[in-house]
Amino acid sequence: MRHLILVLSLVTLVCGGNAEATDDPHGSANGIACGQCHIAHRALGQILVGSTNGLVSTLCLSCHTPGGWLNMTRTLSAAEKAVPGTSGSSHAWDVPATNSARGAQTPQNQTLLDHLAADGSITCATCHDPHANTIPPFLRLDNSADALCLDCHRQRDNASVRTYTGGELSHPVGVTLPAGSGYHDPPLDVDGKPQPSDGNTTNDFVLNGGVVRCTTCHGVHKTDSDSGTVDGF
Ligand code: HEC
Ligand code: HEC
Ligand code: HEC
Ligand code: HEC
Ligand code: HEC
Repeated sequence: MRHLILVLSLVTLVCGGNAEATDDPHGSANGIACGQCHIAHRALGQILVGSTNGLVSTLCLSCHTPGGWLNMTRTLSAAEKAVPGTSGSSHAWDVPATNSARGAQTPQNQTLLDHLAADGSITCATCHDPHANTIPPFLRLDNSADALCLDCHRQRDNASVRTYTGGELSHPVGVTLPAGSGYHDPPLDVDGKPQPSDGNTTNDFVLNGGVVRCTTCHGVHKTDSDSGTVDGF
């Protein structure tokens, strides 16, 4: 059905119908049309994506590279992709969505499931919707309370890990950072003062309404273990 919808949408477009536009910055502001990302007339591939190897990540990275579509500010490279425990500074893509060592299972959310590659791998478009910037930055799910992270990493959800009786243990999430003397709330920064005293907000722990989340401690892209450096795009 998805293939049919894609073909019909692109046919409408080629015939001058009112196919919906993509949201900026993936739209007219940067001169991006459907044809930049899709091949309309080819044998029906997996998703008719306009990259030579048919991979979504190759398509994304072809623009998101220095000197890409225009003077891109948000660039990524294959070398930044995490090989867990070894290298990289960005959440992995083009890897199977299931990885028991990292507490990752096949997503349950239908939107994420629909946007795995045919072989079950995660792509950039599993987490990002390249068409709609309804949840910036082009996210499939609102991640302010870890909905995106926990759909795959649900073994690390507080309800399933904070038993301390054996089995899988993980730092608690979804709990409010206590204000008592045993905790620094707000947490301390690298200079020992309450954040963000060093003026570098990218090394701050992000407490969502005072609640500890996966994203309190983990970034997704351009992230490293050095709290003295500025991370991010
Ligand atoms: C920035 C790149 C980009 C642009 C621009 C773009 N698409 Fe897509 N589109 C994609 C990718 C990547 C996928 C595959 C997503 C996935 O993995 O499921 C996709 C998938 C689709 C699908 C299948 C349904 C879905 O959401 O997966 C349709 C239909 C579609 N595109 C239509 C269009 C039309 C019509 C336009 C122009 C108005 C357009 N696209 C512009 C990248 C783009
Ligand atoms: C045709 C070129 C092109 C392609 C292909 C493309 N992008 Fe982009 N994207 C842009 C431009 C231009 C921007 C504006 C920011 C910048 O200059 O880096 C942008 C911005 C973004 C942003 C930031 C949005 C914001 O509000 O700040 C995200 C996230 C993003 N792209 C994800 C993707 C993903 C995922 C794919 C592959 C499915 C993709 N892009 C493919 C051109 C492209
Ligand atoms: C596991 C989910 C996930 C995958 C896979 C993923 N991203 Fe992201 N991406 C996010 C989240 C969440 C954010 C917002 C938080 C952040 O910026 O750290 C983000 C942010 C971004 C931004 C920055 C937007 C801004 O305005 O700063 C760009 C660009 C981007 N992603 C592109 C990509 C590309 C290209 C790929 C594939 C090569 C990719 N992402 C794969 C989850 C993901
Ligand atoms: C679509 C499923 C999926 C989503 C969504 C997802 N992850 Fe993952 N995550 C995985 C898989 C699978 C791996 C193992 C990667 C590999 O095999 O290289 C992983 C690995 C990781 C790692 C280990 C990285 C390393 O280098 O050791 C961290 C940390 C992580 N994820 C955090 C997050 C956070 C934070 C979010 C939310 C922004 C998130 N994940 C969203 C599936 C997912
Ligand atoms: C209090 C900070 C903190 C929170 C909250 C946190 N993590 Fe971590 N996480 C870490 C640290 C530090 C490491 C590195 C541990 C190591 O190298 O042994 C790590 C490692 C990981 C790894 C790779 C190693 C492994 O055992 O799989 C994954 C995957 C991961 N975290 C996912 C998550 C997810 C998903 C959440 C939310 C449910 C989360 N983390 C919440 C600090 C945190």
